[in-house]
Amino acid sequence: MDAPRSAAIENLMDERRTFVPDPAFVARANATADLYAEAERDYVAFWERLARERISWSKPFETTLEWDLPFAKWFVGGELNVAYNCLDRHVEAGRGDKVAYHWVGEPGETRSLTYADLLREVGKAANALRELGVEKGDRVAIYMPMIPELPIAMLACARIGAPHTVVFGGFSAEALSGRINDCGAKVLITADGGYRRGKEVGLKHHADEAMASTPTIEHAIVVNRLGHGVHMVPFRDHWWHDLVGRQSADCPPVAVDSEHMLYLLYTSGTTAKPKGILHTTAGYLLGTSFTHEMIFDLKPDDVYWCAADIGWVTGHSYIVYGPLANGATGVMYEGAPDTPSWDRWWQIVEDYKVSILYMAPTAIRAFMKQGPQYPAAHDLSSLRVLGSVGEPINPEAWLWYHEHVGRGAAPIVDTWWQTETGMILISPLPGVTTTKPGSATFPFPGIKADVVDADGVSVPLGGGGYLVLKQPWPAMLRGIYGDQERYRETYWSRFPGMYFAGDGAKRDEEGYYWLLGRVDDVMNVAGHRISTTEVESALVDHRSVAEAAVVGVKDEVSGQAIYAFVILKASGEPSDALAVQLREHVAYVIGPIARPKYLMFVPDLPKTRSGKIMRRLLRDIAEGRTLGDTTTLADATVVDTIRENSGSAEE
Ligand code: WTA
Repeated sequence: MDAPRSAAIENLMDERRTFVPDPAFVARANATADLYAEAERDYVAFWERLARERISWSKPFETTLEWDLPFAKWFVGGELNVAYNCLDRHVEAGRGDKVAYHWVGEPGETRSLTYADLLREVGKAANALRELGVEKGDRVAIYMPMIPELPIAMLACARIGAPHTVVFGGFSAEALSGRINDCGAKVLITADGGYRRGKEVGLKHHADEAMASTPTIEHAIVVNRLGHGVHMVPFRDHWWHDLVGRQSADCPPVAVDSEHMLYLLYTSGTTAKPKGILHTTAGYLLGTSFTHEMIFDLKPDDVYWCAADIGWVTGHSYIVYGPLANGATGVMYEGAPDTPSWDRWWQIVEDYKVSILYMAPTAIRAFMKQGPQYPAAHDLSSLRVLGSVGEPINPEAWLWYHEHVGRGAAPIVDTWWQTETGMILISPLPGVTTTKPGSATFPFPGIKADVVDADGVSVPLGGGGYLVLKQPWPAMLRGIYGDQERYRETYWSRFPGMYFAGDGAKRDEEGYYWLLGRVDDVMNVAGHRISTTEVESALVDHRSVAEAAVVGVKDEVSGQAIYAFVILKASGEPSDALAVQLREHVAYVIGPIARPKYLMFVPDLPKTRSGKIMRRLLRDIAEGRTLGDTTTLADATVVDTIRENSGSAEE
């Protein structure tokens, strides 16, 4: 089984099931195949047309794109305001009574905010920031639970041209202060706390601890969510309900340049200092809103629910900016999927007649583990489009989602993108694309992707390699805050002239893209570059398996050997016989080269707070090393449990 010289990563899995769009869906679909052709002819003209049609400008732009690789400027000379585009224009058009967010708190309370409500609250919050001395260009840090004040705070910043940096509410004081200091934020907006898994989770004490070492912070605004009082530092800390509550709702939007910084979002590097990914105004607004309308087939009466946290880019682009620019009605849920029980999400879908649902494969696999009885107990017939994001989705998880959530009818859009890309770049268009379970299918119109080998040469169809992007797109990052050299080095130096995303991918004979995970995770077994994703998918393909993570461990004979960590479905029983069966199953599905040498049953896997498996820690465990940095780990007890059992791996 000799690899062709150019194969950077082997293509082992062969998934042949296909799903053709339903004619009834096609007849009403927002997207048509013409978009590909139009963008192919002239991608700059394509984005220019869309920017003129979709964005409300205070001053029209003159030049569509200035591309000085790797620095892009889109819609040069234009002026606009994002909050105006997300709120005022809908209210002015008579849609003020349309619901922007149905919010559900974990303990059960609900709030619905219309576009008019949101506009009023954003105006008041923007005036509050003004009162604290925040001016256009000043940075504001936001550290909040999933409550309506979070998008309100973001839009208030956008309204006055103050870039925000949202720090996920699950992060520590140290992570918060590091980010505040990197961008020199002047104000911090936070809350006393929120609810998660039936418990109160305090935030203000972390914020206080962080503010002890953030000299640039002058004021904090604190939302009273839990309601039993927290320590407030006189003159520095202000209750939201006092300060925002007493403001006028009238706050004229400040027109800013197309390239004005809208926000920074820090990616937690596993070893190095977090990078402040910089996004600007017009291109980001266009990229997120257009992809949202096409990829989710958004119609005026849809109820759209992206079940991510706003602390991640998915929430920025597809809970806040994209959907609001499109005037969508969204659902926002504060808490965990298993509280009070594993059918919480399905109850919400039923209650609000959610028609579009967007979530992560890690959640799908968690639901798979619990079994189909939870979705089956609810009326999910309102669902008509399902999305997936954040990791490769295994074909079996895709099929489970299709059958048990989408009732075999709703198209699935597997969307590939990154914090850096700002918008979805590879995805099916529902009603246009024939899908294959596990494939993100094709680059979005106007996006030029490729799969290249180690020398940057395009790999022929059927082969695997490194995923790159070969032309700029409107929502792309504009750099790393304060360190443009690192920007060039991180993304543009591996393959000169191309953006390297850090992901492996393969294309099948029909040109479908299959994401293979981070290239740092690729294993080298006897000279074959094997993707962790493909072996994991082969394991999940077995009826007893809910989730799997594999890593390469040092091996005297083969260089690396495959070590698999397996979570069984609730119905499965760990046994030596099953371990043997699973290893054989991988050999059967993708070939003997990929048969795991070691296999261990585990109750859970170490994940980041955004749900990505931390394979680095699994490698440490498998090779018996002391653990590296665990600060981004969501639940530290998981590794201890795995470690205690790690002597018992099957060989
Ligand atoms: C991974 C999340 C496969 C990928 C929007 C990427 C995916 C990283 C997919 C970015 C997908 C995201 N299929 N892999 N559909 N979507 N990824 O910055 O490795 O949190 O580089 O952005 O997630 O993660 P980030």
